[in-house]
Amino acid sequence: MAERSYITPVWQNHKQLDSKSYDVIVVGTGIAGMTVSLSLDSKLRIALVSKEQFTESSTYKAQGGMAVAVGPDDSAEEHFADTVRVGQGVCREEAVNLLAGEGPAALEFLQSLGADFCHNQNGLDLTREAAHSRNRVVHYYDYTGKYIAELLADEVNRHNNIERLDRSFLVDIVTAQDGCCGCIVEHNGRLVYLRAAAVVVATGGYSGLFKRSTNEVSASGDGIAAAYRAGAMIADMEFVQFHPTAFTTLSGKVFLLTEALRGEGAVLLNSAGDRFMFNYHPSGELAPRDEVSRAILRESTRQGGETIYLDARHLGKEYLADRFRQVYSELAKNNYFIERDTIPIAPAAHYTIGGIKTDLWGRTSVGSLYACGEAAATGVHGANRLASNSLLEGIVFGRRIATYINETYSAKREPSELSAGVTAATGSYTDLNALRTKLDGVAGVVRRGEELEAMLKWLSVGETNHQVSPVDHSYHVYNTYQLAGLLVEAALLRTESRGAHYRSDFPGKNDETFRKHILQQWGRKAVIA
Ligand code: SIN
Repeated sequence: MAERSYITPVWQNHKQLDSKSYDVIVVGTGIAGMTVSLSLDSKLRIALVSKEQFTESSTYKAQGGMAVAVGPDDSAEEHFADTVRVGQGVCREEAVNLLAGEGPAALEFLQSLGADFCHNQNGLDLTREAAHSRNRVVHYYDYTGKYIAELLADEVNRHNNIERLDRSFLVDIVTAQDGCCGCIVEHNGRLVYLRAAAVVVATGGYSGLFKRSTNEVSASGDGIAAAYRAGAMIADMEFVQFHPTAFTTLSGKVFLLTEALRGEGAVLLNSAGDRFMFNYHPSGELAPRDEVSRAILRESTRQGGETIYLDARHLGKEYLADRFRQVYSELAKNNYFIERDTIPIAPAAHYTIGGIKTDLWGRTSVGSLYACGEAAATGVHGANRLASNSLLEGIVFGRRIATYINETYSAKREPSELSAGVTAATGSYTDLNALRTKLDGVAGVVRRGEELEAMLKWLSVGETNHQVSPVDHSYHVYNTYQLAGLLVEAALLRTESRGAHYRSDFPGKNDETFRKHILQQWGRKAVIA
């Protein structure tokens, strides 16, 4: 990316800011952030920072469930094998081992807090999702994320050592000579310096950068951008997972139609009413998400741009209205009845695999700075995430971070000098809508080098055009530009197709050069390693 210069960071004068001290700061209130907070030693004073309302997160929107190998015919080895197969050669296998192996303990953690997932006559009702070789998805009807988020939030509210800082936007991470020592947040238009011996970033992913996304615009990867500016290593930004079956509501919002529908037998039809998925992949509708998304686009193009439909009519009203309560009622509000109608769908950005590179304990390349959940790049997802592995990742790696901090915590002295590693979030008022629309076209399901290159140029011009005062709501805009730049740069560098990243100008895999990761770090050239 082009060299950029930034305004003087206001918080070099941090002593003039209001400040508060904690032992640990956790930023983000999805499954990962709340799990860390609840698993830390209750003697530690924790600030739990959320950008929006406390329970607003991508976790809250998760429908399908949590993959965990607890079925009688299942094992951690099989969960591992499915995850690695879908990850297309670039999963970090030690991390996948932990994910699959610690899955049952993660489920017990939720059950110990009172989670009571759906059951059938044999015990837990384990559903199937694409590319799983077994039924292994634990769920609560079709609003598993909301169920878990509310359960964790109730528990957080019972913990006196956790202070909630709602509606506080992470502006930047503060570093000193020996690593991270806090962060700057903006609350009600004021900047506040929060000090702590450890900061955990669990702020979610960047799918909200895309106009057509199952996430809210607020899923803008702010924690990843802040960590990048603080010098943390960022990895795998090009891998954005598109969910094949997203429905557009009458008001223009994108609403997810959970993969569990296909897991339970729903099929995809072209505009002639014919199933087509087996023409593209031997697993049909249960092929990995990237394959299904591309097949939908190809089939639609083959038919001259016609719409593709999801058909669950044969499953019947009684079953659909109970098992898929949220989907059923949202579609009904839009005059679609899933037992009667085929439902128009198209892919949408859904989950971002890239983020802040961590080790197996959630440690980043900056001392005392940790990351987990969608904000982190632990390596478990490789080039493509296996469905329903993300809630599990949030718990497994959230608990590992807490274990590490509990064992190693020591209060830091107030640093005398903050490092210049704090780079102010500043930015441009260039039309965010234009950026999001452009990103859909250029960095969507299918990408091409020339367009990526042109977009990278467009982004760097936009960035240097204007500078705005830090004390306004431009942080979000700035982060969007910064992350779009990282994403497009990584997508341009990966001149092959693998998992969620597909280049029409390089449709094959190139294991020799690219069975690796694209790593990006502030002030350094991106590397493939
Ligand atoms: C879905 O319900 O289809 C989404 C599940 C996931 O993204 O893991």
